[in-house]
Amino acid sequence: MSSRNVTVVGLQWGDEGKGKIVDALAGHMKYVVRFCGGANAGHTVLVGDEKFALHLIPCGVLRKDVCNVVGSGVAFDPATAWGELSALRERGVSVTSDNFKVSSTASVVMPWHKLQDTLSENALAKGKKIGTTARGIGPCYSDKANRTTAIRAADLTNPAILTEKIRSIVEIKNCIFGALYNAEPMDAEAMITEYIALGENLADMICNTGGILRQAVADGTPILFEGGQGSMLDVDHGTYPFVTSSNVTACGVPSGAGIPPSAVGRVVGLIKAYSTRVGEGPFPTEQDNEIGDKIREAGNEYGTTTGRPRRCGWFDAFAAKFATDLSGVDELALSLLDVLTGMGDLKLCTGYRSEGKELTMFDPANMTDVECIYETLPGWDCDITGCQTFEELPIEAQNYVNRVEEILQTPVGFVSVGPERSQTIVHNSKTEGLDK
Ligand code: GDP
Ligand code: IMO
Ligand code: MG
Repeated sequence: MSSRNVTVVGLQWGDEGKGKIVDALAGHMKYVVRFCGGANAGHTVLVGDEKFALHLIPCGVLRKDVCNVVGSGVAFDPATAWGELSALRERGVSVTSDNFKVSSTASVVMPWHKLQDTLSENALAKGKKIGTTARGIGPCYSDKANRTTAIRAADLTNPAILTEKIRSIVEIKNCIFGALYNAEPMDAEAMITEYIALGENLADMICNTGGILRQAVADGTPILFEGGQGSMLDVDHGTYPFVTSSNVTACGVPSGAGIPPSAVGRVVGLIKAYSTRVGEGPFPTEQDNEIGDKIREAGNEYGTTTGRPRRCGWFDAFAAKFATDLSGVDELALSLLDVLTGMGDLKLCTGYRSEGKELTMFDPANMTDVECIYETLPGWDCDITGCQTFEELPIEAQNYVNRVEEILQTPVGFVSVGPERSQTIVHNSKTEGLDK
């Protein structure tokens, strides 16, 4: 099936600049759909002088005539969504049931999930902590899989069911949290009042989004699937257990959105020109030194959701090739190239050695005690933030992009040289409709 659908996924540990590219491509889309994660995401979009950091509402909300969908695979936090929606409205962005819809089968993040996230992280010993965003993501997906202690978005619109569920689940959670963490009991009645009110606020947005999207697929209406997180954080294919709790690669799109695999469309894989990671877990190319500090300052690498300083390092082409293959990436978008300006020689990791032997195959389960194999490329010093064509980039920057393209065996469709819409170079792209 040929379609104009596009899937944008992160190929590293998140924060690759998905927000910017989703926004740039969204102008020609009818739907923009989140299929994984929840309010752990922080997607930044710059529109003129205005900066938006979106957590749960898809980035298409800043485009007129785009309907934004939170799919079934998302951990939906109604309190955060309502807060985000209200803040957008205050800034003059229209968010109504016409342009924002939530799957009735999405799992709901409740206060006990956020509490458990914090209690459980605090109780873990150093070295075992995941470094979560404390947004209740892991506990929410655990309850989804557990079934009997879960609340789905449809329940928010039925006060009787919601009341019964909150009462019975709070009783269970109070027992568990009291026994495990000596936590104060939660007050179910106050929560019932709050969540019935949230349900009323959001009721006309909660609907059968899977049905709507499958109809759009049948009609050939263009859909953009907006990835959250990055492939190395995927619950099945990432650096487990230091991952998030959902399927964040293009493989997660069909079930997370409720569309057939054939409708995933063209897959655009986001890579930043170096690597970052927030939270704990293996990161072979990490530069916990002056180089990492320099990248962090130049790239303003502080978490969009939690404000934590991001760990920084060289581009890991070995890991990125794995992620490219896993999602079947059609073309890459390489972002934050401008951050490498003035860094001197640049290193690209092309493989790992373990116990002295070069690994023949990338294995996300074997990343802790590896030694990186690097090749070194000359850097550049001139400002590239105004470059509009690939040829305007200094030859060293061109060579860097070309080498990434070569190792990943995938064309680089877009090169981003700054956070603004206009700072995007269209290079070897076959994806239509990018607005600058
Ligand atoms: P996301 O989670 O993948 O959407 O990425 P984040 O929004 O968390 O982090 C990316 C950050 O880099 C944001 O502050 C963007 O505004 C910024 N950004 C995106 N592309 C570029 C770029 O090419 N150059 C620079 N300097 N900043 C960029
Ligand atoms: P975007 O969409 C970067 C990381 C957390 C932690 C791990 C588990 O903005 O790229 P969780 O709260 O999901 O249980 O935390 O995953 N993480 C992200 N890191 N960008 C994100 O999203 C992330 N979402 C989760 O820092 O290490
Ligand atoms: Mg982010």
